[in-house]
Amino acid sequence: MSSLQNSETSLAPVRVGIVGIGTVGGGTLKLLTENAAEIERRLGRALQITRLGARRDPKGIDISGYAVERDPMAVARATDVDILVETIGGTTVARELVLLALQHGKHVVTANKALIAEHGEELLAAAAEQKVSLVFEASVAGGIPIIRALREGLAANSIDWLAGIINGTSNYILSAMQQESKAFAPTLKEAQDLGYAEADPTFDVEGIDAAHKLCILASCAFGVPLDFQALSIEGISNITLEDIQYADELGYTIKHLGIAKRTDAGIDLRVHPTLVPKANLLASVNGVMNSVLVQGNAVGPTFYTGAGAGSLPTASSVVGDIIEVARGFGETERNSTPSLGFTELKPQALCSAEESTSSFYLRMTLTDEIGALAGITSTLAEFGISVEAMLQKEPRMADGEALATLIVLTHEVSKGAVDKALAKIKDMAVVRSDVTVMRMEQFQS
Ligand SMILES: NC(=O)c1ccc[n+]([C@@H]2O[C@H](COP(=O)([O-])OP(=O)(O)OC[C@H]3O[C@@H](n4cnc5c(N)ncnc54)[C@H](OP(=O)(O)O)[C@@H]3O)[C@@H](O)[C@H]2O)c1
Repeated sequence: MSSLQNSETSLAPVRVGIVGIGTVGGGTLKLLTENAAEIERRLGRALQITRLGARRDPKGIDISGYAVERDPMAVARATDVDILVETIGGTTVARELVLLALQHGKHVVTANKALIAEHGEELLAAAAEQKVSLVFEASVAGGIPIIRALREGLAANSIDWLAGIINGTSNYILSAMQQESKAFAPTLKEAQDLGYAEADPTFDVEGIDAAHKLCILASCAFGVPLDFQALSIEGISNITLEDIQYADELGYTIKHLGIAKRTDAGIDLRVHPTLVPKANLLASVNGVMNSVLVQGNAVGPTFYTGAGAGSLPTASSVVGDIIEVARGFGETERNSTPSLGFTELKPQALCSAEESTSSFYLRMTLTDEIGALAGITSTLAEFGISVEAMLQKEPRMADGEALATLIVLTHEVSKGAVDKALAKIKDMAVVRSDVTVMRMEQFQS
């Protein structure tokens, strides 16, 4: 057992158990140890690591000085743990562990976005029942304290919208495709070689990880229930170098964004590649960095950026949560706030995919003949879609036919109208390709 207690502090130490000593759990252990004096000064009492849960000894992390449980559930039951840190990941054992810890009256800190996005309602109810805290700052955007910003710093505001680069892997791939003029597949391979992408990259490149995080952000910002199924999700695996280069020519950068907007049709929740004007702050966030832009009705636009993953950046948020929970010890009312301000979730109207509006980028190949372009614009107009800009590339010969690439940027319109127009356009004789469709956002405040 390792005590981080300073004997001069009068309050008893708050006792912490960490389960899952991997990247984040190991970083949490390191930070709690190395910054113990600074943490104690800020908190006014020590944090003491009383138990670790590790089914085997982790590589490269010395846990020999601690009481180690091989069964993670033993940490949830331990009488000498006040706050349990769950850093094992996944939604099966982690769910069981967190529920058990809450049932045993322990406060829980987790970095697990999948767990909160998919089982948050159940876990928050269990925390409320036991009058303990369940906090998860590290689950969104790693080291950026975005949940705290929404919950505390922006608490006076009605949030109009937020948009975030919340998956470092996707951002790394899109940035590298743009900077190195490389296609998706070799860039993904490079990201895997560098350790920025998993061997199975599906969760990251298909937008699921970002959707988990957006789900949590939307609940913080708008008070909507944690409902992962309600999100519209699209990843980056279909983005071509061609589209990145055309977007660039038109003054835009393609970013994979999680977007939550208050609209007349309800809260609009979506995760997808987005053309962002190059002048926008989000456009210049490259590599594995994360950033979130939040528009509050009083404060206007605010921007948060930093490391979205990694051992110590993520541990920074985990330990921040431990400290915040420990600050509430002894204050009955605060202690009975189960999720530190996350209790007011209630169903609200959600905007359907068809009603969701934005500008759109459309790319298609047309036969190079008189009237082809006019046919496209008149069909778009038929469905109420007005054109903001158009780019037609030099014709090229293919199979004895002259073909030209056309890019259309629309004004703001509903996704439903675009889908209907494209259903008609794709059957037109002059159209010789599928139509690539991407959202565009200006984020004007
Ligand atoms: N890595 C990041 O930068 C980051 C950032 C933000 C949030 N997160 C979240 O933090 C959590 C942990 O991620 P990580 O990257 O730290 O993962 P990791 O490096 O794989 O560490 C997970 C640890 O949990 C242990 N573990 C897994 N399943 C277990 C089980 N059933 N019983 C007992 N121990 C178990 C593993 O032990 P073994 O070695 O025995 O498998 C490992 O030590 C995830 O929810 C992740 O989404 C991670």
